[in-house]
Amino acid sequence: MTILVTGGAGFIGSNFVIDWLAHHDEAVVNLDLLTYAGNVDNLASLEGDARHHFVRGDIGDSALVARLLAEHGVRAVLNFAAESHVDRSIEGPGAFIQTNIVGTFNLLEAVRGYWSGLDDEARAAFRFLHVSTDEVYGSLSSDAPAFDEQHRYEPNSPYSASKAASDHLVRAYHHTYGLPVLTTNCSNNYGPYHFPEKLIPLVIHNALAGKPLPIYGDGQQIRDWLYVTDHCSAIRRVLAAGKLGETYNVGGCNEKANIDVVRTLCAILDELRPRADGASYATQMSFVKDRPGHDRRYAIDAGKLERELGWRPAETFETGIRKTVAWYLDNQQWVHNITSGHYREWVERQYAQ
Ligand code: NAD
Ligand code: DAU
Repeated sequence: MTILVTGGAGFIGSNFVIDWLAHHDEAVVNLDLLTYAGNVDNLASLEGDARHHFVRGDIGDSALVARLLAEHGVRAVLNFAAESHVDRSIEGPGAFIQTNIVGTFNLLEAVRGYWSGLDDEARAAFRFLHVSTDEVYGSLSSDAPAFDEQHRYEPNSPYSASKAASDHLVRAYHHTYGLPVLTTNCSNNYGPYHFPEKLIPLVIHNALAGKPLPIYGDGQQIRDWLYVTDHCSAIRRVLAAGKLGETYNVGGCNEKANIDVVRTLCAILDELRPRADGASYATQMSFVKDRPGHDRRYAIDAGKLERELGWRPAETFETGIRKTVAWYLDNQQWVHNITSGHYREWVERQYAQ
């Protein structure tokens, strides 16, 4: 048995592949285009593991996907591949439309073709799990209840609009063709291998580099943080026991204002790696121009996943954020390979024409 993971060289995808192979003996075909966000260093711990087959390629390449599905007799596809950074979607939405919408459509078409040719037993057992985000639900006021699965879609950025479109395509392939799909909508992840353009790894990196810690607007925007391996365990659970055609919200019940996240990071760094001059890293905090259309608050109600499938996160924000800071302190070379651009050299050498 084999699963196909797309986007498995990115932050969550690589954590998922590592986590999957730690829990299962089932092989993984890992299809990733290696955009700027894909980093084969994330998969270094799997070197020599015959259960992991890495393929560089595009989810939008239906012929490639069809070949991989047939060659490996894939029994489930987990779609992590996406353009994922909101700020980049504001600067240049085109890539988001291409990968998140057109790419997902082409992937679905390849999967539908393969799935419809399977025998009855394999067709019934097959799964397509689409990894999505809480951002499709839009922004909450401070006193509104957390997003549940019935919350209307109200995406506000080109990123979240493109993810919303992909969720609708996945839903339609179930409704129209009977494709056995599952969708997860998760809150903000953090942990190892998080690309240092996102808030938490960026702040850790800038703090250690003596640079300003940019806080957008007033810093009072709220996100609901989930340690990445808890997202992985939720996906494993939904894949194993989720009801076909359903969506499951995934979250950590850890609502935090951005400014408090940054203060917490500074306090942990002050303790674990104090500045040479004895000052707190908090003195590097710097308020900058707000993100256009910045969503004020996200909060996830993961009650359905807990009630129906018995999932609960293992980490609190306090335990997860400490582990995360420690991981970045222990893996400065990984960060340096990204910030110096070295991580792209392997891609250029390996795939030189
Ligand atoms: P990421 O940007 O770190 O990784 C994305 C990966 O997809 C990269 O390895 C990239 O090379 C690959 N990729 C991009 N375009 C591709 C294409 N056309 N074909 C094949 N591979 C391609 O993203 P992430 O933070 O790991 O997010 C993974 C998924 O989880 C995304 O779908 C995202 O929307 C969703 N999600 C992320 C979060 C979060 O907090 N990061 C929360 C909820 C949901
Ligand atoms: O909610 C899930 C989403 O979380 C995922 O779908 C996205 O793929 C993922 O990137 C993340 O989106 P955010 O926009 O919430 O993450 P980001 O780390 O970019 O920003 C977190 C918050 O911090 C947000 O309110 C913007 C703010 N921010 C971000 C950066 C990079 C700052 O204040 N300063 C910064 O420098």
